[in-house]
Amino acid sequence: MSVKNPVKRLLMTLTQGVYVVGVGKDGLRDAFTASSVMQVSMQPLMLAVAVNPANASYPLLAAGGVFAVSVLHSDQSALADFFGNRSARDEDKLNAVPWHAAPSGSPILDEGLSYFDCRVVASHPAGDHVVVVAELTGGAFLQEHGRPLRYEELGNMDGSDELLPDHLGTSGGEPP
Ligand SMILES: Cc1cc2nc3c(=O)[nH]c(=O)nc-3n(C[C@H](O)[C@H](O)[C@H](O)COP(=O)(O)O)c2cc1C
Repeated sequence: MSVKNPVKRLLMTLTQGVYVVGVGKDGLRDAFTASSVMQVSMQPLMLAVAVNPANASYPLLAAGGVFAVSVLHSDQSALADFFGNRSARDEDKLNAVPWHAAPSGSPILDEGLSYFDCRVVASHPAGDHVVVVAELTGGAFLQEHGRPLRYEELGNMDGSDELLPDHLGTSGGEPP
C-alpha cells in the first residue's frame, strides 16, 4: 500500500501498533480502531489513547470512564479496516465479531493478540483529538503466538494522506 504524502511517510517512522478500543456503558457499546495508543507510566501502569471526539464512541468513553484495548496481530488488517472505517452511527460493529466483556464491562475482541483493561484518570485536549490517560486495571494474552500488527503496514487505510499537510515548513529541513 503506497503512501504519497511525505509528512505521513515521515510520521510513519514513529512506530505505532494497531488496536481496537472497546467502550461500553449501560448496555451500549462500541469499538473503533486506534493507532495512537502508548504506555505512558510504569508505576502506576498507565496508557494514553488519542481519541477523535467526533467518533461515535467518544461520548460512551467519556461517560463510562473505562475502555479496553485489543491488540491486533499481523494478519488482522481487515479488522483494523472494519473498525476504523465504519461507525456505530450506521451499524453495531460488535455484532460482526466474537467479543467478550472485560471486568470493566468494555468489549474485548476474542481474536486479538492481547488486551488491556483501562480506567480513565485524565483527559487532555490535543488539537483535533483528546488524549485520554488511563490506569491499567487488567490485561492478558488472548493468543499464544503472533506478532502485533504495525500501523505502517496499513498504508493510507485511515485516509490521513489527505488530512495531513504535505510539508512541515520548519527550519529543521523538509521531509524526504
Ligand atoms: C488504521 C486506523 C487508525 C486509526 N487511529 C485512530 C486513533 O488513534 N484515534 C481515533 O480517534 N481514531 C482513529 N481511527 C479512526 C476511527 O477508528 C474511525 O473514525 C472509526 O470509524 C470511529 O468509529 P465510531 O464512530 O464507531 O467511534 C483510525 C482508523 C484507522 C483505519
